[in-house]
Amino acid sequence: MPSSAPSAPSTAGQPTALYGGKAGRRVTVRDIAAAKERGERWPMVTAYDAMTARVFDEAGIPVLLVGDSAAMVVYGHDSTLPVSVDDLLPLTSAVVRGSSRAMVVADLPFGSYQASPQQALETAARFMKEAGAHAIKLEGGRRVLPQVETLVSAGIPVMAHLGLTPQSVNAFGGYRVQGRGQSGDELMADAKDLEYAGAFAVVLECVPGDLAERVTASLSIPTVGIGAGPATDAQVLVWQDLMGLTPNPPKFVKRYSDLAGEMNRAVRAFADEVTGGAFPTVEHSYR
Ligand code: KIV
Repeated sequence: MPSSAPSAPSTAGQPTALYGGKAGRRVTVRDIAAAKERGERWPMVTAYDAMTARVFDEAGIPVLLVGDSAAMVVYGHDSTLPVSVDDLLPLTSAVVRGSSRAMVVADLPFGSYQASPQQALETAARFMKEAGAHAIKLEGGRRVLPQVETLVSAGIPVMAHLGLTPQSVNAFGGYRVQGRGQSGDELMADAKDLEYAGAFAVVLECVPGDLAERVTASLSIPTVGIGAGPATDAQVLVWQDLMGLTPNPPKFVKRYSDLAGEMNRAVRAFADEVTGGAFPTVEHSYR
């Protein structure tokens, strides 16, 4: 490390909570590992623009994921498959610019890493260099181990993703719970191999809660659940789902607000005042 590079302030001896903990520097993979050691649970949400990133960052959310779910919630596709690296890079830059504490994880989109470890490295490097991402996420188990090893040895923190990996929706024949019965053992083996390959966390999507509990107990890296029950170390939701903006969210989503209803009410109030001449008034006009 060059001598001019500042090192992160030491938190030795003073546990810093991941959720709502001290600002002043970005959350790092070391903070995330320490939270697992302390048995601390933490929240992760998706973000795709600077303003929502700022709100979530100021609320103390320690990890923001620029998910390829942007394909659906930002770009209006009906799966995550169509979104490209060029679509996601500007969203990732915006989330990095809008936040100051959260670790920003960039999702590698379908087709941008599966071909080879070299392809994965080139794509991940674009997210780190051009957008300022702090880590990347990719989907898959043992079939992407060479990619994970290559990225980790290049110094790129990797979040893995198992279970219902939406980029494989066509191979699964739909959005279905994964890991039931025998395939649970395979998922457990994948998770252990990904940990061994150097992943710093693993998302478990739509898997039975007891399997997620066993995986969480077997790994020393944190599990991040989405539709994986209450036992994982962290939980992630797409922000439009948790805020009540998406029309028909999956069963695992809990809505914490009714943003669609609130936006509908607000935009109608604006429209009514415009058409009725009540807006703007002198108060909103320049002399
Ligand atoms: O793309 C995404 O938003 C995700 C999360 C739901 C885990 O992968």
